[in-house]
Amino acid sequence: MRAAQRVLSGVRPTGKLHLGNAMGAVNNWLRLQREYDCYFFIADWHALTTDYADTSAVRQNTLEVALDLMGAGLDPEQCVLFVQSHVPQHAELHLLFSMITPLRWLERVPTYKEQQENLSGRDLSTYGFLGYPLLQSADILLYQADLVPVGQDQVAHVELTREVARRFNQFYPAQPDVLPEPKVLLTPSPKLPGVDGRKMSKSYGNTILLADPEPEVRQKLKTMVTDPARVRRTDKGNPDICPVFDLHKVFSNAETQQKVREGCTTASIGCIECKGWAADGIVRYIAPMQERRAALAAKPQQVWQTLHAGAERAQQRAEATMRQVRDAMRLAPHAAPIASEKEATRA
Ligand code: TRP
Ligand code: SF4
Repeated sequence: MRAAQRVLSGVRPTGKLHLGNAMGAVNNWLRLQREYDCYFFIADWHALTTDYADTSAVRQNTLEVALDLMGAGLDPEQCVLFVQSHVPQHAELHLLFSMITPLRWLERVPTYKEQQENLSGRDLSTYGFLGYPLLQSADILLYQADLVPVGQDQVAHVELTREVARRFNQFYPAQPDVLPEPKVLLTPSPKLPGVDGRKMSKSYGNTILLADPEPEVRQKLKTMVTDPARVRRTDKGNPDICPVFDLHKVFSNAETQQKVREGCTTASIGCIECKGWAADGIVRYIAPMQERRAALAAKPQQVWQTLHAGAERAQQRAEATMRQVRDAMRLAPHAAPIASEKEATRA
């Protein structure tokens, strides 16, 4: 039987994860870890490409994301879970790629100009910021990944990765190609509004966090926008244009959804009541995650140990690729492999 395809994906540690992350990337990873040979990592170096001036939050954010992921059910026994900076091979491959990548390839990545405009408070005319999609290419190709689960916003980066792989293989031919071209596995994500009705996103400040305590969830729901037609309790509403109902579609059962539709369109329930039911559904969903999360959060040293063990496994896979890369480029071989020979040559 053919070995399971290899999956690689990363998350930038910008802080605690929210319900939108859970419904998108995290749920997807939970599914994938059961079916594929999965490598998932927390991209702490990527966080530096925009937040280089004040790095004081990176370590804590990395831990928070690890807690959220494991709390949500990502299992470090089933997948390889690690922190990017614990695997220095990412930096080595990125450096080698920087030698062969034309500047214009990076300048035309759509996120480059967009982000520079969005984050106009910071000076992003840095070398690292321009190069971050190339760091992402190194992240992916370092594991000779077959599939890269990402959202639509990251597709251009995987496209760049494929171009870099092709260029590398052309310059440094080997049989078979050292760097196979990975494919995008587009992450399905249901429409999940934040409390202001726009897409839930950290940058809008409208999120409900996986780690929010129940009273906080209920409080946030109370402030959530509704069908603006329901000014008074006696005004009828339309769930189909109400963001609260979008939450019901994800977190409430069919019976509750029916009760809401009925009550809203006849003004027999109030928005406060309706929001309470939505909060019930969310709390039911996050409660078991929070229980696991709290148990892990009580022992941060153990969590770091788990991540270090993940990094060791990741290094073994990464080093196997790097040997092929150094060979193909006719660079000096490394004296001793970092990881055990047996594992590293399993590739
Ligand atoms: N750039 C991705 C993001 O902002 C995170 C990331 C870094 C990533 N390296 C990756 C995703 C490699 C997939 C594969 O979401
Ligand atoms: Fe929205 Fe519920 Fe109020 Fe209807 S009752 S407008 S669905 S919050």
